Amino acid sequence: MPGFADRLNGIAISASAAMTDKASALKAQGVKIVSLSSGEPDFPTPGHVVEAAIVAARGGDTKYPPQDGKPALKKAVQNKFLRDNNLRYELDEILIANGAKQIIYNAMMATCNPGDEVVLPTPYWISYADIARLGGARIVQVPCPAGNDFRLSASDLEAAITPKTKWLVLNFPNNPTGACCPRQDLEDIAAVMMKHPHVWILTDDIYEHLIYDEFEFRTLAEIEPRLKDRVLTVNGVSKAYAMTGWRVGFCGGPRDLIAAMNNMQGQATSGINTIAQAAAIAALEGPQDYLKDRAREYQARRDLVVGLLNAIPGLRCHTPQGAFYVYPEIGACLGKTTKGGRRIETDTDFVMALLEEQQVATVQGAAYGMSPFFRISYATDTDTLREGCRRIAEFVSSLT
Ligand SMILES: Cc1ncc(COP(=O)(O)O)c(C=O)c1O
Repeated sequence: MPGFADRLNGIAISASAAMTDKASALKAQGVKIVSLSSGEPDFPTPGHVVEAAIVAARGGDTKYPPQDGKPALKKAVQNKFLRDNNLRYELDEILIANGAKQIIYNAMMATCNPGDEVVLPTPYWISYADIARLGGARIVQVPCPAGNDFRLSASDLEAAITPKTKWLVLNFPNNPTGACCPRQDLEDIAAVMMKHPHVWILTDDIYEHLIYDEFEFRTLAEIEPRLKDRVLTVNGVSKAYAMTGWRVGFCGGPRDLIAAMNNMQGQATSGINTIAQAAAIAALEGPQDYLKDRAREYQARRDLVVGLLNAIPGLRCHTPQGAFYVYPEIGACLGKTTKGGRRIETDTDFVMALLEEQQVATVQGAAYGMSPFFRISYATDTDTLREGCRRIAEFVSSLT
């Protein structure tokens, strides 16, 4: 057989996608799975957004769009950054892509050379590491321990930066922990980054509207305007507006970086789907009040899940202030054996046995760079969450 590219060495299908596939295969065999592995809202896309897409399709908005996004969507993004983040980006400082994921891909591929380092506060969303590796870069992990609420300490960050550092990637509210970055932490991080002008900073703010307990979201370029010419502020409509399938992400950043990323995108996908762009305009320019209602609903689910998990001897679960994930610690379960005779040495063993013996799909902490933990997504209805936690309790309590 003809061979494959070296750049794919060590790049695996993401663990959450693998778990979702495994759960789907079991479902197809008739097994009733409780799925807590998927990182997408269970709410439908709002009606007015769907309507805007239908109008666009019927109205003939079906030709190749500009590669960097339709002017009307770029204007809507410009307004969004001003409204929500107090950030002023010119239209040539904005790029539209197929999801925040393609924004991140464009950024890494347009800037990384072999030997470059990408600093990742850990645990991190799986794709940052794989995309950086595809770009030839090396990952440098900075642990954000549970004891510090999975937050990034400025001194740990400082110790990780070398002359080879190309990027720092910030993602708060965080996938997989839900951790948020309070204003003081951001100021401390900004102070460190002011000392290292050779480093780009990507802030992935995709969970910005999913915040709880009156937490006030802030983004780095807003906190420290002197960093704005090195910061790529990444966002998208997937999580806030329940539009994961529409594939619209966007960013604001320095003009030259945006131009290089646009060049990269031009050789991959060109401009994104026109119908989805019309939908995204409706999402960003339409009513915003339901975002708070949804956040209240997620907060109630978070409280339910954290309460149920902490009632299970052997698990320890923090109370995150954002996103829709919890990241319980399972150290007390290691070295034990399941009812079905499986030995639990790692968090991967734990989630596999949980799937096979209790049919609950979750994702192992190893996939996010920090063990022994597992990730639960609570972006699902409360009956499913109760049943999932009941099965997890049964599983953990039966370990011997
Ligand atoms: C932190 C983070 N960034 C980006 C994405 C991807 O967003 P999009 O659907 O816009 O590609 C995800 C999806 O899980 C995510 O968790």
